[in-house]
Amino acid sequence: METVEVLISRDKLKKRINELAEIITGFYGEKSVYAVCVLKGGAMFMVDLLHEIELPYEMNFMSVSSYADGTESSGVINVSLDMDDDLTGKNVLFVEDIVDSGRTLDFLIKRAKSRNAADVRVCTLLHKPDRTLFDIPLDFVGFEIPDEFVVGYGLDYNQKYRDLKYIGMMRFED
Ligand code: IMP
Ligand code: MG
Repeated sequence: METVEVLISRDKLKKRINELAEIITGFYGEKSVYAVCVLKGGAMFMVDLLHEIELPYEMNFMSVSSYADGTESSGVINVSLDMDDDLTGKNVLFVEDIVDSGRTLDFLIKRAKSRNAADVRVCTLLHKPDRTLFDIPLDFVGFEIPDEFVVGYGLDYNQKYRDLKYIGMMRFED
């Protein structure tokens, strides 16, 4: 049987997102931000975060999936929805739900840089430091969490639980 245990309550999420928005607003000053949401998991977070940010911003969306071809470390990233081809002058801010191995963001950061972005930053709601293999700069992090499979607030388990208002840990019992 699957159950979900609360890890981060709705109130804690809201409070931290407001704090992140304030930090990000201060960081960019008057600059315009080109926010790129990594779908689908980052959707709720991106909207709630941008709502609180006091900066001019553009929005874009990417859809990527990572396939492990044989071994964990040789994952290949498939892009099914991409950002603009030319990012000249853009201050790219990737908005992610969670950084696990870091493979997805490592790929995305390189892609943005190769398209001439003026600046590339990352904002992730959740980070599992114990599992991260790629050395990527995480500029803005909501919560560091233990090595647990989490769902809710956009994050899924087989497309389920995205609708939860909180972040929960999956528990499997028989
Ligand atoms: P990475 O490329 O290994 O960092 O994986 C990042 C992606 O894996 C995230 O954007 C999620 O879509 C997915 N993912 C990793 N951990 C979890 C989890 O605990 N719950 C739900 N999705 C996860
Ligand atoms: Mg994601």
